[in-house]
Amino acid sequence: MDNRPIGFLDSGVGGLTVVRELMRQLPYENIVYIGDSARAPYGPRPAQQIREYTWQLVNFLLTKDVKMIVFACNTATAVVWEEVKEALSIPVLGVILPGASAAIKITQNGKVGVIGTPMTVSSDIYRQKIQLLAPQVDVISLACPKFVPIVESNEIQSSVAKKIVYQTLSPLVGKVDTLVLGCTHYPLLRPIIQNVMGSSVTLIDSGAECIRDVSVLLNYFQINSSRHDAIANHSFYTTAASESFQIIANNWLDKKINVEHVDL
Ligand code: DGL
Repeated sequence: MDNRPIGFLDSGVGGLTVVRELMRQLPYENIVYIGDSARAPYGPRPAQQIREYTWQLVNFLLTKDVKMIVFACNTATAVVWEEVKEALSIPVLGVILPGASAAIKITQNGKVGVIGTPMTVSSDIYRQKIQLLAPQVDVISLACPKFVPIVESNEIQSSVAKKIVYQTLSPLVGKVDTLVLGCTHYPLLRPIIQNVMGSSVTLIDSGAECIRDVSVLLNYFQINSSRHDAIANHSFYTTAASESFQIIANNWLDKKINVEHVDL
């Protein structure tokens, strides 16, 4: 048993989609979350910069004495997860393998779409992981660089958001039966994405899939929280102004949380 928190990192608010799933599946776990909204989006940045920023987030989480780190960011997972995983003595999880495995299980016609940031798509990592396990599956990847700014500015309900999602995804419509939301910001746009893709397309939330792996690892290493009688402690930090993060988080998590600004 281990009551230390699980650390989550993301370029901004996207990792909240992973945290929401953790709160649902593992409500007794304590959480420390850091979102680098001041420097989001990461997706269009060069790999070396994403690596540097992600290490800063990792080092911040390590100062909070976390027992495990979840890369709640596909872009950071694509660029630097392997390196961080090798360097640390605590478990470090990414969101890409769980999303890739889920897509293989779900597709009926062997046509899988993957949407993500420019870095995630250009890394080709989803296609590689999917085809390593299932070479017969076709993967069509599409970068959606305009989606993260819509989510970070909390414009997910706007007509502009609908228009952008519709225009961006049109090359994928009718081409796949399964679509991996290969960026943790995208589940916030899920109703619009589902509407554009059609109800027959199964959307995969890579972050939610990853929480199943968190649960397995907690059991394997026997580091679950033992505080089943206590209210879990959730600490959220952002590198930007805390107000905007707080509004998005309160809506998405459907509870009032406390957010602190931090400079890295
Ligand atoms: N949530 C991040 C991801 O999953 C978004 C990265 C970005 O800031 O572009 O890729």
